[in-house]
Amino acid sequence: MGKQRVLSGVQPTGTLHLGNYLGAIRNWVEAQSQYENYFFIADLHAITVPHDPEHLADQTYSLAALYLACGLDLNHTTIFVQSHISAHTELAWLLNCITPLNWLERMIQFKEKALKQGENVNIGLLDYPVLQAADILLYQADLVPVGEDQKQHLELTRDIAARLNFQYGQQDQPILKLPEPLIRPEGARIMSLTDGTNKMSKSDPSEQSRINLLDTPDQIHNKIKRCKTDPVRGLSFDDPQRPECHNLLTLYLLMSGKTKAAVTQECADMGWGQFKPLLTEVMIEDLRPIQERYTELMTHPRDLQAVLKKGRDQAAAIATTTLTTVKDVLGYARPL
Ligand code: TRP
Repeated sequence: MGKQRVLSGVQPTGTLHLGNYLGAIRNWVEAQSQYENYFFIADLHAITVPHDPEHLADQTYSLAALYLACGLDLNHTTIFVQSHISAHTELAWLLNCITPLNWLERMIQFKEKALKQGENVNIGLLDYPVLQAADILLYQADLVPVGEDQKQHLELTRDIAARLNFQYGQQDQPILKLPEPLIRPEGARIMSLTDGTNKMSKSDPSEQSRINLLDTPDQIHNKIKRCKTDPVRGLSFDDPQRPECHNLLTLYLLMSGKTKAAVTQECADMGWGQFKPLLTEVMIEDLRPIQERYTELMTHPRDLQAVLKKGRDQAAAIATTTLTTVKDVLGYARPL
């Protein structure tokens, strides 16, 4: 039996932060040799909210370089740009026509984003999860690494696939594979540096709330120095009264590679003045090689483009096959 196929994407908006890295990309990297992986840059999703054409291409290359700098390995992983493969938008259209409107209207993320945007809500924002379903179903993915916020979109993907299979397929021969969520390991939910009860997020207006993968040592130093803590002496995990403490210890644990037991013991009697420099140091050291590889990759744009071209060719072969199958079952006339 071949390896299971894993697929995921990230939008090229804002820069990647430690939440993205520790909660997602690092897990992909660690597990990549067990699977056949497809990781793409979701640039079509990026225009569902107002965007700046000036930066879209740069941010796409930058994210591709960060994927590689974080350790995605082309021997196990295909990296590509969503908009380079027209099958994504084409399948999304076909799926639009079998997806009931009220399935989309109840998506939590749509409701939240629509609320934020007031008058300026485009159809793409509502349709976002159908495009995401197309992304996943085109590759007949077995597993999709998802965080809490994307679970509902994966459920919807399964519902859409099941509906297509039911309406147009044979019972014993499903047309589209129903993907399963790949749940991330415990402790990888990174919270904001200004509020330990909120997720670290690209959309938080405060830069101080997150550490970006490309932050300089000075920036990291200053952010940790000023991050929210509490007046209690002695640091411990899992105290619901101390969300910031739990988060900072988790960051230390993940970035130092130490065990929870070791960190618990090491920090039990520490004050913040002792702990913060330690955390700063491991962060700077952990990010340094990623930043060096990133700079190297960005100075050779042609090589990066070649990676994306190869990824596109590999991904398009699979995507086109699935798209053709779906068009066939829907009864489309094949072009000569
Ligand atoms: N919606 C995802 C996010 O913002 C990005 C995404 C687009 C995605 N298509 C996908 C993730 C397909 C997994 C699979 O995080």
